[in-house]
Amino acid sequence: MAEKVFIFDTTLRDGEQSPGCSMNLDEKLEMARQLDRLGVDILEAGFPIASQGDFDAVRLVAAEIRRPIIAALARASELDINRAWEALKEAARPRIHTFLATSDIHLQYKLHKTRAEILKLISFAVGLAKSHCQDVEFSPEDAGRTDRAYLVECCHAAVEAGATVLNLPDTVGYCLEPEYEKMFADVKARVPGMERVILSTHTHDDLGMAVANTLAGIRGGARQVECTINGIGERAGNAALEEIVMAIHVRHDVLPIFTNIHTEELYTSSQLLTRLTGVAVQRNKAIVGRNAFAHEAGIHQDGVLKNAITYEIITPQTVGMPSNQIVLGKHSGRHALVQRFKDLGYELNKPEIERAYEQFCRLADRKKNIYDEDLIAIVNEGFKDIPEMFTLKLFQTVSASEGRATATVELEKDGEVFHDSATADGPCDAAFRAIDRITGIPGTILDFSVHTVGPGTDGVAEVVIRARFEGREFTGKSTSHNVVEAASRAYLLSANKAAYELKRAHAAASAASGSIHENEVVERLFPGGY
Ligand code: KIV
Ligand code: ZN
Repeated sequence: MAEKVFIFDTTLRDGEQSPGCSMNLDEKLEMARQLDRLGVDILEAGFPIASQGDFDAVRLVAAEIRRPIIAALARASELDINRAWEALKEAARPRIHTFLATSDIHLQYKLHKTRAEILKLISFAVGLAKSHCQDVEFSPEDAGRTDRAYLVECCHAAVEAGATVLNLPDTVGYCLEPEYEKMFADVKARVPGMERVILSTHTHDDLGMAVANTLAGIRGGARQVECTINGIGERAGNAALEEIVMAIHVRHDVLPIFTNIHTEELYTSSQLLTRLTGVAVQRNKAIVGRNAFAHEAGIHQDGVLKNAITYEIITPQTVGMPSNQIVLGKHSGRHALVQRFKDLGYELNKPEIERAYEQFCRLADRKKNIYDEDLIAIVNEGFKDIPEMFTLKLFQTVSASEGRATATVELEKDGEVFHDSATADGPCDAAFRAIDRITGIPGTILDFSVHTVGPGTDGVAEVVIRARFEGREFTGKSTSHNVVEAASRAYLLSANKAAYELKRAHAAASAASGSIHENEVVERLFPGGY
């Protein structure tokens, strides 16, 4: 009989801690809700000792998301474990995930500890975690490069102390498939008490083998797999959840296992993460890339038209990828639009419907056919996130092949209209500088990407921007026929997020100290208080 493989998602922990993928509290909660809809079994919400933000994220996710197990990471120390428990204790199904490196390389150069000391620490850490919570996972970090006999001893110590899950990470993405598979088979065969414990994979993609190694771990006896949406994570990333799930789904003929993932939520999950982090997946990314289901070669198109099975092993619908069907046009009404959003899985509230309809009409005036992708781009513009402080009313740019570009922008805030101009090397930069002059919080662009949405020559441009304001990074995404307009809206969205966060952080600091702090930027953005 097929056995279940538990999906442990670490997008909000191993994924989020990688450069460029950081999310704020609201963004983490939004992602957690989507991971719940996706059906993950375990959701690792963060590393509470790492920062107050991580602590709050774990606490809020634990309080709100009740179906999956909520895990929090802790090093093998009293402070870490107690902090993880503090964040987790409201969870319906909490799990403390504690880890300690076990390879000689880590012992010698990082921890400066002997093997005997590590064994003691493992017993202590798992025992302490167990005193808080029934469900305890232990990871011997760098298990892939740990001496096998010693790894077995470490795992034994963890099981004796009460670990319910043993996760064997290939921390540096070094293992080849047969090695990774054998490690699981060895631990399963040689550690007493394994019948009470679930073995777990955790793989990194440094040699491009994270997903293959995950499947190898399953062959070796693992029944939990740790992975992230879009494969985000340290360095080359973690194993991609969508790839593991679809490999198991498509090849059930040879893999006697299943997952409880709702595959039709995969594309939405991938898109949401892109919107929140501003980190897009490459076009040819398996399962969720824009070209994953595009058949370009004539011979392939011919085959697919005759019977899709000739070249398609997965249908786009299985992963929830919108079809390229023309869905709406200029004369479609509000009702049709709301219905189509519903079909695509978006439940909009009244103000969101109004805003979506307004943007839809603007787009339909310029574009004959509106595709599902256009609608997703509209809803992803960010209006579900953050109350807009400034809205773009008008912009105008002048640029030529030589000389500097000039931009004039008009923004509205609380019914008041502001305008300003700036010059820069290019029209987008000039528009950003003009926006800065009005908002008063100058940003530095860290990443700027443009691509077209939807097929045809009338496709619109989608711009994703990552920018730093006041030392923190924010993302914005927008679409328009005009690249400068899309860029300006995306930049303004990231500035709005920065302003919103600034306001929140300032309010929290004032509440904590009992007095209103002076802050020049907050004063400028919110004259007279908030
Ligand atoms: O890669 C790794 O070893 C980890 C552990 C903390 C599980 O992320
Ligand atoms: Zn990792």
